[in-house]
Amino acid sequence: MSTTQPVYASFKSIGAYVPEKILSNEDLEKMVDTSDEWITKRTGIKERHLAADDEYTSDMGVKAAKLAIERAGLTSEDIDLVICATVTPDYFNMPSTACIISEKLGIRNVQAFDFAAACSGFVYGLSVAKAFIESGMKKNVLVIGAEKFSSIVDYTDRSTCILFGDGAGAAVISATNNKKEAFIDVHASADGAYADFLVTPAPGTVNPVSQKVLDEGLQYVQMKGNETFKLAVKTLTKDVKEILKKNDIPSEEIPHFIPHQANYRIIKAVGDALKMQEEQVVVTVHKYGNTSAASIPMAINDIWESGRLKQGELMLLDTFGGGLTWASALLPFAGESAQR
Ligand code: COA
Repeated sequence: MSTTQPVYASFKSIGAYVPEKILSNEDLEKMVDTSDEWITKRTGIKERHLAADDEYTSDMGVKAAKLAIERAGLTSEDIDLVICATVTPDYFNMPSTACIISEKLGIRNVQAFDFAAACSGFVYGLSVAKAFIESGMKKNVLVIGAEKFSSIVDYTDRSTCILFGDGAGAAVISATNNKKEAFIDVHASADGAYADFLVTPAPGTVNPVSQKVLDEGLQYVQMKGNETFKLAVKTLTKDVKEILKKNDIPSEEIPHFIPHQANYRIIKAVGDALKMQEEQVVVTVHKYGNTSAASIPMAINDIWESGRLKQGELMLLDTFGGGLTWASALLPFAGESAQR
């Protein structure tokens, strides 16, 4: 790669890890006052995967990252930045999960850090990787989205426990001079006015660990579900329309629209607003639930492994999460197609 020519960021590879244990709607019927029918109708979710008790966010991130590095045709030594999007780190808040992942992958003396943008984390990560690469500071950035969401879910609260799952996804973003491989655009934004829509009240400086925190269950995620739903549809639709318009690409030219996987009704509403055909829209929420920052890379991995996503094809990513945060990205898949 020449450094005298313009340098672009390119999406070189994808990997993911799905934990073995399955929590089905039928299992949840035995735990809280709910039904498979209600969950399916309101969310589209049939099952989600949960990490084992001794399986941590970093372990899942490492498994996804190993695949991504190998599929990029690289080794750990080639990675010069490790970033991990997570709101369920191994530790609140030191050391970062990115540092633990780096150590487990044998990546040493390389910048590594976590960032919290909830479900928007992975696409936020792409914007960070793009900036580092296009400024010439880094060449191969490992972007990980990993969550053990089950560690902050109250399994007696039917309004949240039906939604979330665990998992990880990772991508290698590399420098290239080939404009055809380059990210077209990434947009990331936030509005803290809606911070109370999705909150984990503890632990933090507002609510340090105490008996009161445990008695009141403040360590669990709290959500204003209905309000979040409405804002998600509105924001996702607006965001994606803007990025398409700005880049003069009509929605029918997008082969792979990969929205955040929180609720099938949200995905359907956004897809319909964009006049997308069913085959353009990627859906994995029925089998993984909402895996927060891991949701989009797990979905990309699914279509890559199944042979649906091929080299050079355009992806439109669109996500929304606690903060509130949102982000979209328009980019070709610059890696090799899966060998089948
Ligand atoms: N099983 C059965 N009934 C349930 C239930 C469950 N798991 N969870 C809630 N209900 C009940 C409520 O108690 C309420 O009962 P009521 O009318 O007697 O008060 C009724 O169902 C409707 O609740 P509501 O919260 O208005 O339902 P909804 O249609 O908004 O669906 C969500 C709830 C959580 C599925 C939906 O709001 C949602 O998906 N929100 C967005 C979540 C999200 O995307 N979060 C992450 C963003 S990244």
